[in-house]
Amino acid sequence: MQEFDVLVVGGGASGLRAAIAAKHAGASVALITKVHPLRTNTAIAQGGLNAPLGKDDSAEIFAGDTLLAGDGLCDRNVARTFAQEASADVIWLERMGVPFNRDQEGRLDRRPFGSNSRRRTCYADDRTGHIVLQVLHEQFQRHQIPSFEEWFVTSLAVDGDSCLGVLALGLRSGRLDAFAARAVILAAGGFTRLYLPSTASLGTTGDGQSLAYKAGARLMDMEMIQFHPTVFPKGQGLLITESVLGEGAEIVNDKGEAILASKAVPRHTLSVSLHEAMQNGSGSVALDLKRIGKEKLMSRFPQTAESARTVAGIDITKESVPIMPLAHRPMGGIETNAVGETSIAGLFAVGECACNGLNGAGRLAGNTLTEAVTFGRKVGEAAARYAKGAAKRGFPAAKLTDEERRLASISGGGSSGDSPGKIHSELGKLMNEKVGLVRNGAGLKEALERIPGLKERYRKIRVRNPSRIYNYELTSYLELESMLNLAEIVTLAAQARTESRGAHRRADFPGRDDKSWSCHTVVSLVKGDPQLRTKPVTGERS
Ligand code: FUM
Repeated sequence: MQEFDVLVVGGGASGLRAAIAAKHAGASVALITKVHPLRTNTAIAQGGLNAPLGKDDSAEIFAGDTLLAGDGLCDRNVARTFAQEASADVIWLERMGVPFNRDQEGRLDRRPFGSNSRRRTCYADDRTGHIVLQVLHEQFQRHQIPSFEEWFVTSLAVDGDSCLGVLALGLRSGRLDAFAARAVILAAGGFTRLYLPSTASLGTTGDGQSLAYKAGARLMDMEMIQFHPTVFPKGQGLLITESVLGEGAEIVNDKGEAILASKAVPRHTLSVSLHEAMQNGSGSVALDLKRIGKEKLMSRFPQTAESARTVAGIDITKESVPIMPLAHRPMGGIETNAVGETSIAGLFAVGECACNGLNGAGRLAGNTLTEAVTFGRKVGEAAARYAKGAAKRGFPAAKLTDEERRLASISGGGSSGDSPGKIHSELGKLMNEKVGLVRNGAGLKEALERIPGLKERYRKIRVRNPSRIYNYELTSYLELESMLNLAEIVTLAAQARTESRGAHRRADFPGRDDKSWSCHTVVSLVKGDPQLRTKPVTGERS
């Protein structure tokens, strides 16, 4: 058994940043991740990351924009602290080696992005997430932090109300092992692969949220799913950075006419307008990038040009790209406070895995990466502090034997004719059709009636491949359990919230209802079933 002060689960930007911060704070740290860090979902954040660096900007204005996008559900204290600390974290990234684009005076250039009221999105062409990830990974390696890559965490070891570590399956070795830790940080990303297609990478299956939920932690605001407006929808879904709109691209109909006010509007508003335009006779809509001009297109958006050509067969300097809104990132996740503490002692969460009140009902474009680095740092430091003060507790050996038995029970037996892939594709379609960008009571009811049927079929499946080594049949099976649990919770919360707010749009309740719904939804597992309650929005009012 391995033993650490702090164990970080997940190798994206928030996990890497948390591990570096915890190491700096003097803790013994390790990172465990099911995919290599450079293949995590951080890479899809292309447009850039926010910091209020302009002369016309300030932490107050930035916090104000964040609160506006959050549509009444943000924790104001969290948003203010974030806005005050963001610039230092972005400058830290620059010092560590991120080659940000520069303006003519040599300062960090900032592009207009989404509903930011100022130019505050620092960027590296259209590869910002990819490059931030590379630089964080380099720094992570420089700190010589032990890294368990291709290890799949199968459960959290929780005793009473404390988290003592995790149990994980080494995909390379096929060995199940225990990792004891005084503090565990879940930084395992989001869960939007429960929508198919979506923008999320293959591994974005909600493992962290599901592990925490099954261990007794609460999930908050799970109905809040951000749909990204500018996605080429064929195949897996190809995200085209929304920053092209700020740089001159337009959303057009099949005659090439611009059809929407697409500048400086929140992402959820733009996605809904696009959806309505498609319903109301515009049919297909497209993104006209030619208006940016060939030179700027090729210098600022090289990745977009290349992926449009290879994935869609489209030359963006000559043709428009068909688009539609697709599920992108959740705002909801594991309920935490501002430094990532969950309701379980010693269990922390950060990044897309967590819901700390920063994003409320809608995330401001450009806040994802800044959130990952700012809160990654804060949560890493908090976990290290916690670990220093926590009493050493023995890791119950029985947990490993129990988990061995559970995994063995999944394997063997005859085929039911079903497969995790088949159930996943039905779930993904159901979620897009009934719990999608615009929902209604009848569709949500239907989804809640059909998800238990999918769960029932899931329970009958047995993993036929008896090997534990790189057994993707087994890992897909485990991921599907997470997605089925979370799909039910998302739908339950979406059904409960009888209003439209931020990313949550109800066709049957089109208005925002502050009297009844100026609150969070919180779901926990009670006697095997999800139980929903509401919780007031915290943080002082201004
Ligand atoms: O449009 C974008 O560049 C997307 C950024 C993100 O939210 O990941």
